Amino acid sequence: MSSSAIHFRFLFVLAILVALANSQTDKPNRRVQSNKNVAMFVFGDSLFDPGNNNYVPSTNARSNFPPYGETFFRYPTGRDCDGRILPDFAAAYAGLPYWRAYLDPDDDNFTVGANFASAGAGALIETDPNAIPLEVQVDYFKEVANLLKDQLGEADAKELLQGAIYYSSIGGVDYASFIFTATNVTESLVEDYVNIVIGNITNQVKELYKAGGRKFAFQNVSPLGCSPESKETFNATGCVKSLQKIVTMHNNALNIVAEELASELPGFKYLIFDYFNALMDRIENPTKYGFKVGDVACCGSGLYRGITTCGSLTSTYELCSDPSEYVFFDAGHPTEACNIQLIELLWNGSTHVVWPVNLKELLELEIETESFFGNNVDLLSQLS
Ligand SMILES: *[C@@H]1O[C@H](CO)[C@@H](O)[C@H](O)[C@H]1NC(C)=O
Ligand SMILES: *[C@@H]1O[C@H](CO)[C@@H](O)[C@H](O)[C@H]1NC(C)=O
Ligand SMILES: *[C@@H]1O[C@H](CO)[C@@H](O)[C@H](O)[C@H]1NC(C)=O
Ligand SMILES: *[C@@H]1O[C@H](CO)[C@@H](O)[C@H](O)[C@H]1NC(C)=O
Ligand SMILES: *[C@@H]1O[C@H](CO)[C@@H](O)[C@H](O)[C@H]1NC(C)=O
Repeated sequence: MSSSAIHFRFLFVLAILVALANSQTDKPNRRVQSNKNVAMFVFGDSLFDPGNNNYVPSTNARSNFPPYGETFFRYPTGRDCDGRILPDFAAAYAGLPYWRAYLDPDDDNFTVGANFASAGAGALIETDPNAIPLEVQVDYFKEVANLLKDQLGEADAKELLQGAIYYSSIGGVDYASFIFTATNVTESLVEDYVNIVIGNITNQVKELYKAGGRKFAFQNVSPLGCSPESKETFNATGCVKSLQKIVTMHNNALNIVAEELASELPGFKYLIFDYFNALMDRIENPTKYGFKVGDVACCGSGLYRGITTCGSLTSTYELCSDPSEYVFFDAGHPTEACNIQLIELLWNGSTHVVWPVNLKELLELEIETESFFGNNVDLLSQLS
């Protein structure tokens, strides 16, 4: 082979290498995260609790008795559902195992994340101090973050925490207790209350950010006024308007505050999952989604099975034979069959139901690490 031919081949290979390098940099700012970085931290209320309250003696908000758990786990784990809840499916889609409760002594490897959610938990401590309020859940997270730093070293722990998804469902119990117990609620009291709830959520999100969190998946508050429990409690024929209204105000404020945080905090990424409308649609149009019943629960008593007697040993209750025909399993919580539909919307739904990105896209988003290690020390110290 002549030297010019070798030279030609060398140039040809070089050209291909250059083209490849360019195509790498031309790619959108995304990559598939290597599995070792994927972790998920879950915060919230009964919609997300995998059994933490089993270990909280001060609360009665537990569902660790039959028929809870009858569909999938075949034993009552403490989930407020016949089967798996949304965080279970979110974990599975991200390649992680179903949740153990953080307070379960066997939950001892946090490299996949942790689930701190607690039935009854509010964004405000006074909503239910006997559950695990949001602030305490975030304190637990900080302990886990420190443990990971000890185990993995500072750099690897930071990478894990920054690549992790922070998935939350909070506020529903605050609004239910506010409206259920209020007597003379004025427009301005409602506004003040929404501001206080949003203010407390914002503070805790900033705490998570300070601890390294970058990817937040906010599930908005459910159509509380349309739950069997609300309709039963208010003896309403349709959805309870005062509840729908305050939750809608909250969800609108959540959109605004998430956008503000994203412009304020370098590297802050988020999604909002429109749980409110996704569930509402199924309550109003059950047959469109393969359900027979949208407004009456599978398990409970009363007109809508909205009295929370499901599983009670002391009072009678009704239990449907096939939960998959129902949107609601009990007075306030969807069936596994409903969750199976909802997770697909969160995972790869369009921007009508999950915005500005879906969970799959949020996982794949690249985090600019410079913003954390770089010149933002001042900004971090300003966060309160
Ligand atoms: C924790 O789980 C990860 C991922 O499954 C695994 O690689 C690691 O070895 C586990 N660590 C311990 C201490 O069990
Ligand atoms: C309820 O609020 C309205 C408007 O502030 C007030 O006029 C009314 O007296 C209040 N009623 C009671 C029972 O407190
Ligand atoms: C957080 O909630 C408390 C009530 O528990 C309230 O006094 C406080 O103002 C709230 N904080 C913010 C920032 O809204
Ligand atoms: C519930 O409302 C219906 C009419 O909508 C009424 O007939 C019934 O008495 C009410 N029950 C209670 C307990 O208020
Ligand atoms: C969404 O993901 C599910 C599960 O991986 C898949 O079956 C479905 O086809 C996907 N839908 C779209 C629109 O990509």
